[in-house]
Amino acid sequence: MQVNQEFKPTIVAFCCNWCSYAGADLSGTNRLQYPANVKIIRIPCSCRLNPMFILRAFQRGADGVILCGCHPGDCHYTTGNYYARRRMTLLFSMLDYLGIERERTRVEWVSAAEGAKFAATMNEFVETVTRLGENKRLEDLRCKSE
Ligand code: FES
Repeated sequence: MQVNQEFKPTIVAFCCNWCSYAGADLSGTNRLQYPANVKIIRIPCSCRLNPMFILRAFQRGADGVILCGCHPGDCHYTTGNYYARRRMTLLFSMLDYLGIERERTRVEWVSAAEGAKFAATMNEFVETVTRLGENKRLEDLRCKSE
């Protein structure tokens, strides 16, 4: 498959406040690099993510969406990430139904001490989505800025 070098995907990363956002912060503090086209949205807990947010992000032009939360068992609200994991499993099957490649969405558990993992995950995810190309499914033309 030929990779378009010019294409820079828009990536939305939903990060829980207590672990993953701190992990992203740590990667910045350690000067680890990940692409600037990763747009981080801080959420209180991974369970705050309504799967509709992901579909809406795709409608509004995201090429890939990633959810990062605390490791199972480490959620600040005890069981929030278990709920998130179940919801995401359902969403994955729905994405298959909608014809959106499964690789465009991802769930990753990143703790506050894993700055290197955060940067590596983002680099890898951006690479995967770049290979997939622009997302045309669910695109809402009313959301186009041009
Ligand atoms: Fe991080 Fe719940 S607070 S997943």
